[in-house]
Amino acid sequence: MKNVLVTGGAGFIGSNFIHHLLRAERDVSVVNLDALTYAGNPDNLQDVADDPRYSFAQGNICDAEFVEGLLRERQVDTIVHFAAETHVDRSILGPRQFIETNVIGTFTLLEAARKFWLQEKTLPLESVRFHHVSTDEVFGSLAPGEPAWTEETPYAPNSPYAASKASSDHLVRAYGHTYKLPYTITNCSNNYGPYQFPEKLIPVIILNAMEGKPLPVYGDGQQIRDWLHVEDHCEAIHLVLKRGAPGSTYNIGGENQPANLTIVETICDILDEIHPESPHKPHRNLIQFVTDRPGHDRRYDMDTHKISTELGWRPRHSLTQGLLDTVQWYLSHPEWVTAIRQKHEYQGWMEANYKSR
Ligand code: NAD
Ligand code: DAU
Repeated sequence: MKNVLVTGGAGFIGSNFIHHLLRAERDVSVVNLDALTYAGNPDNLQDVADDPRYSFAQGNICDAEFVEGLLRERQVDTIVHFAAETHVDRSILGPRQFIETNVIGTFTLLEAARKFWLQEKTLPLESVRFHHVSTDEVFGSLAPGEPAWTEETPYAPNSPYAASKASSDHLVRAYGHTYKLPYTITNCSNNYGPYQFPEKLIPVIILNAMEGKPLPVYGDGQQIRDWLHVEDHCEAIHLVLKRGAPGSTYNIGGENQPANLTIVETICDILDEIHPESPHKPHRNLIQFVTDRPGHDRRYDMDTHKISTELGWRPRHSLTQGLLDTVQWYLSHPEWVTAIRQKHEYQGWMEANYKSR
């Protein structure tokens, strides 16, 4: 792992991963390929912009010529592929971009890696790795009492987002099987933490609650997600890159399965506690049950036995402390928040998603 290409590094998890990698590895060179869509934010990496080990290349993963040029120019031996359209609600309102980026974009990267690593044989095969970052949503939805998903659970994606991620996982696996491309895949549960774009549940709730706005809970709020702190996810990916067996997939999860409503109430209680003078106290009064997400998955739960027994990984953050730290992060980064919320695109999305709910 000398010359690493991170795709989607200006997004939430990608930027946390670049921070993690630069902290953990001294002799590494990282190029961040990101199209800077609405979700990409160069501010997330402001503090490493001058690090000589880091560089930024603005471009689209669907642009074959650009991607191939980058692999050659930087002699890339490791690809860590985060770039994607990631919001389930956006995939319901407009699925096409999810097919473009998540399916065609992943295919384009795979083709570039096949040419550069397997056909031109520029680097020793044992030194290269294509790591694909995927999601637990490819497995569908669990009924109450059903066992957690393992790496062997058949795929049953329900949303256009989940189907596009499942397609990309299948392509990665097929390139490994057919062309012997050395790959690993991780399927991870819901992340939270610093730099998460404020369209996802936790930052939406924190920011609305701070301003005394309604807190939108879809349906009955009893849907269950498996919450993982983003730093735990980054550590797991790093470990898989170093010690994971090529051709393997690993589940990653947070060992936390609260209902959405519990997450929302916990954030309200944290704000009551750290802002006792707030005019919006008790923040729980702001909760509003709104129209459910179409096809809403009911329950996610990841069996992380494989990564814990093979690689010794376990999440280090408790949800209680992780949520408190996350609330404090958003409170202490008002410029970051304001810069996003001032954008026309963001305001348009919030209106499109919430106004008629
Ligand atoms: P994000 O939406 O915060 O960021 C996505 C990044 O990809 C942005 O910087 C964006 O500019 C970039 N991007 C989008 N389209 C691109 C394109 N065509 N070319 C180049 N760059 C492009 O996403 P995230 O939440 O950080 O998720 C990162 C990855 O992790 C995704 O693959 C997602 O499916 C996966 N994942 C996310 C979660 C989660 O809870 N957020 C959980 C499991 C897996
Ligand atoms: O499970 C992993 C996935 O987690 C990732 O692959 C996705 O990229 C990521 O977006 C996330 O998907 P979810 O749909 O689970 O995350 P979101 O934060 O959008 O929603 C979490 C839960 O909260 C879900 O059950 C829907 C609900 N929700 C969401 C929003 C935005 C609400 O009740 N109100 C809201 O306003």
